[in-house]
Amino acid sequence: MTDATASPPHLLLGSCDYPEHVPRDRWARYAAQQRDAGLRFVRIAEFAWSRLEPSQGHYDWNWLDQAIEAYHAAGVKVVLCTLTATPPAWLIRAHPEILPYDEQGRVREFGSRRHYDFASPVYREHSRRVTLAMALRYGRHPAVVGWQTDNEFGCHATSRSYGGASAAAFPEWLRRRYSVVERLNDAWGNVFWSMEYASFDQIRPPMLTVTELNPSHVLDYARFCSSLIAEFQREQVEILREMSPGRFITHNFMIFESGFDHYEVAAGLDFASWDNYPLGMLEQFAPSGSGEDVKTHYARTGHPDLIAFNHDIYRSLAAGGEGLGREGRGTPPGMWVMEQQCGQVNWAPYNPLPEDGAVALWTAQAWAHGADVVSYFRWRAATMAQEVMHSGLLRHDETEDRGLAEVRALDQAQFPTGPVPARVALLHDYESLWLYDQQKHAASLSYWTQMVAYHGALRSLGVDVDIVHADADLSGYAVAVAPAVTLVSEIRAARWAQAVNGGVKLVCGPRTGFRMPGGQTWAEGQPGPLSGLLGVKLLQFDSLRPTLSQTVHGSSGDFEAHGWAESYRLEGAEARYTYGGGPLDGQVAVASQGHTTVIGAHSVGLIRAVLTEVLSGTGVPTTPLPEGVRLSRRAGRTLIQNWNAEPIQWQGRTLAPVSFEVMTHA
Ligand code: GAL
Repeated sequence: MTDATASPPHLLLGSCDYPEHVPRDRWARYAAQQRDAGLRFVRIAEFAWSRLEPSQGHYDWNWLDQAIEAYHAAGVKVVLCTLTATPPAWLIRAHPEILPYDEQGRVREFGSRRHYDFASPVYREHSRRVTLAMALRYGRHPAVVGWQTDNEFGCHATSRSYGGASAAAFPEWLRRRYSVVERLNDAWGNVFWSMEYASFDQIRPPMLTVTELNPSHVLDYARFCSSLIAEFQREQVEILREMSPGRFITHNFMIFESGFDHYEVAAGLDFASWDNYPLGMLEQFAPSGSGEDVKTHYARTGHPDLIAFNHDIYRSLAAGGEGLGREGRGTPPGMWVMEQQCGQVNWAPYNPLPEDGAVALWTAQAWAHGADVVSYFRWRAATMAQEVMHSGLLRHDETEDRGLAEVRALDQAQFPTGPVPARVALLHDYESLWLYDQQKHAASLSYWTQMVAYHGALRSLGVDVDIVHADADLSGYAVAVAPAVTLVSEIRAARWAQAVNGGVKLVCGPRTGFRMPGGQTWAEGQPGPLSGLLGVKLLQFDSLRPTLSQTVHGSSGDFEAHGWAESYRLEGAEARYTYGGGPLDGQVAVASQGHTTVIGAHSVGLIRAVLTEVLSGTGVPTTPLPEGVRLSRRAGRTLIQNWNAEPIQWQGRTLAPVSFEVMTHA
C-alpha cells in the first residue's frame, strides 16, 4: 500500500470532468470552482484518445498538460484513465479486425464507444502502447494520484464478442482447459442432441442456434470472455505499476453488471470503484415482485436496497472477494463511487429529476456502505453528442444546478472512513449467475432478483451485509447466506461445511447446489455435495406463473410463494415450514439441520421471517424498519436514512423527507 492507496480520514468528494469538451479558458475557472465546492478529485481523459493521438504515433499532450496544471494549481487531485474505451477512427479503419461482433454475428461499428474485441492481438498491442505513452507522460506528475483502467468494462453488452478475434481464440482456450476434446464433450454433456465435437477447432461461440444453447457451452464462453477482460486489464496494470509508482489503480464497475467475473477482473486492482445511478437503476432493476407502485414510490430517490446491494458487492471486490468490513480483518482498501448521479440521467426509459435532498442522501449512503470517495458525474452537463440530455453539477449554461447546492452543503468530516462492521455475509458467484440466468425456468426470477430479495430482507431488518465470493473465508461471520449459489463443487461444499463446523450459521436459498462446475446437474440429485450438510434432498421444483402462488405454513405464520417453490425429502434435517395446497401440499418448504437452513420457496415475507429466526441468538441485532427507512453502520457511526418523500415517525423521532442523520454508536 502506498500513500495514494490509503484511505483518507473521512469521506472526500470529486467529479468527472472533460476539459476536451470546453474551451481552454474555462479550465482554471472550473478547477477553482470545483475546489471551492469541496471537490478534491477530478477524473479525466477516459474518452480522450482521438485528441491525444490524432494519428498514429503523433501525440498532442499539450492540452492535457495544461488541463492537469490547471487542476494542480487549484489543489484538485487527478485520476487519469487509460484510453482504451474509445479507439479512434484512424485505428479502426486501419485495423477493422479490432471491432467486436454482436450475438447475431454482426460487426458493431465505430461511432459510439467500447467498439473493440478484448482478444484482438492488434488492439492489445495498441492498448499497451497508448497506456505506456500516458504513463510515461503523466505517471509521476505530482497532481496524478491514481488511475482508472478503461471505462466500465461490459457496458452496452460488450463483455463478449461473438466473432473475429474472440471466436478465433476460443478453441485454444478450450484446449488448454480440457486437453482432449472427449473431456469437453463429457463436461458439456454433448451426447445430448448429438452435439459432440471431434476436435476443438469445430467449436464456435454460443450463438444463433436453432433453439436453446447448451448451458455448459454458454458457461465456458462466459469464463473465456471474462479471462480476456482480466488479461487485457492486467497488461495495462503492469505498465502503470512500473511507470507510475505510488499511485492507485482502480476500475469503475457497473450496476448489476453480469458479463464477467468481477472477482477475477478486480484481482490486480488496489480497490474497486463503481458508477452509481440510482434512478436509472430503479427503472432497469426493480426488485422482484415489485410493480409500478415501487417504481413510483422511489422514482426520485432510487431504491435504497438496490443501491446498497451494489455498494456491498464492490466494497469487498478488490480483496479477492473476502469481506473487508469485519473488524479484525485489517484495514479495508476503500471503495470509490467514481460516477455518482447528481441530477437526471439520459439513458433510462424515463429520467426523472431527483428529489431535493437525494444527492446528499446518496452520498451519505455511499459513505456508510464503504465509500472513501464519491465523485459526481459530471462537472458540467455536456453540450454535445450523445449525452446532451444528461445533467451535471453545472447546467449547460454553466450556472450551478440543484445537485451542486447539496454537495456544497455536505459536512464531509461527519463521515469518517473505516470498517463496515458486517457480521452477515451474502455469498455471490458469477458462474452461478451465468448458469441460473441461462435457464431461469421462471421468467419472473433471475439470479439478481433472488440475491436482491435476501439482501433486501436483511436490510429491512437493519442488518449490515458484506457480499463476498462464495469461496471466501467465512470465519468470523455469524451468518452466511447463499441465496442463489447454484454451482457448488465438492470443494465449495467442503469449505461451507468447515465454516459451519466453526460456528457460522448457513442459510441457502432455492436451487443451491443444483449444478456441477461444468454446468450439469448432480447425478445423485440436488443439492449434490451439500445434501449431508443441509440434511435434505430436493424432491420437486415448481415454476409459478404470475397468476399462481403457493402457500407456505410454519412457526412465523403463513406466506405466499411467487415464482418458485421447491420441496425437500428430509435426510436428517427437520421441517420448519411446509406447503399447503397444490402439487406440493404437505411437503417440506424450509428445513434446518444444526446450524444450516434451506429455504425452498421464493417469498419475501418468508425469507424475512426465517432470517429473523436464524439471526436471533447470534448477537447480530435486528431492527424491523418501516418502508424506506434504513440503518447502516460504519466506523463507529450509524446512518439513519429516510428515503420516503414524506416524514416518518420512528422510535420517538421524526425523520424528515429524503434525509439522513449520522449518530455515534457505542
Ligand atoms: C456511465 C458512463 C459515463 C456516462 C454515464 C451517463 O455509464 O461511464 O461515461 O455515459 O454513464 O450516465
